[in-house]
Amino acid sequence: MAGPGVSGIRGIALSVRDRDESVGFYRDCWGLEEVGRMGPTAYLRATGTEHHVLALHEKPQVGLLSVALAAPDKASVDALYDRALGFGADVIDSPETLDPLAGGGYGFSFRTPDGIIQKISSDVEMHAQRIDDAKRPNKFSHVVIRAADYPKLRSFYTDLLSFKLSDETDGIDFLRCSHDHHSVALAKAEGPGLHHMAFEMPNLDGLMYASGRMRSKGYDLEWGVGRHSGPGNNIFSFFVEPNGFAAEYTTEMEQVDDATYPQRDARWWRENRPNGSHCAWQMATQRSEKLVRARLGELAAEMNGCDAAISRHLA
Ligand SMILES: [Fe+2]
Repeated sequence: MAGPGVSGIRGIALSVRDRDESVGFYRDCWGLEEVGRMGPTAYLRATGTEHHVLALHEKPQVGLLSVALAAPDKASVDALYDRALGFGADVIDSPETLDPLAGGGYGFSFRTPDGIIQKISSDVEMHAQRIDDAKRPNKFSHVVIRAADYPKLRSFYTDLLSFKLSDETDGIDFLRCSHDHHSVALAKAEGPGLHHMAFEMPNLDGLMYASGRMRSKGYDLEWGVGRHSGPGNNIFSFFVEPNGFAAEYTTEMEQVDDATYPQRDARWWRENRPNGSHCAWQMATQRSEKLVRARLGELAAEMNGCDAAISRHLA
């Protein structure tokens, strides 16, 4: 749909059991930096200028709380708000000035049919300086959400927020809102819940350093290092963080031009996936069982002390 749309993904918010423990992990192991706290929530930045890319909110149950999306300006925020109302979305609040402790700006939020909050904002305060450290993530790259009714959720992103479908496979719909091939993707699996989250590294060397840092801190490499043989063509390494969420370092995400990118469907990818493998290099051919369970939400469910079907509705 033409008209106002979001222009990028800022990051996500997670509920975690122990905020301080999680902050310690994301600072010392993953490579983010805390920039502030408000109530039970801590905010962490990457090395880019975005105010924060991850919010950690202490709650009894772990899960994906919200996705933060950027709009170009206040007029776009207002227009998206009107469209959300017209769409029949579960709108939480009307556009307003946001708390400066969380980066400020102007925005509103609504829930998808799955109950995952989408925060739309413009004019957020950016950091004046980038941090010069290629061994740490420079921005939030993409979030993948499990959604059994993915066509309904896809229409929220495409028709309401003007995302474009980059590619569809048997397992995932890949959606873009900028030149990045995907910023949000929908995994066709029981949900709602976090399938995985990905943070961008500036280059392959930085990704290798960061992956090595994680291993030196005692975290196993669950899948990778590899290059996705398919949508996005990005390099990846996957870990499971302390709350049971799947976390990815990624780099070299394919840059897409709306005028020329050939959207392809699941059949095309079935017939044309290079090597018939999920790793173009044919190196990262095996995902660990732990990662598979994390991406299905089973490890978060264990943290929550219940089975995955119940856990999906707790966070
Ligand atoms: Fe990913």
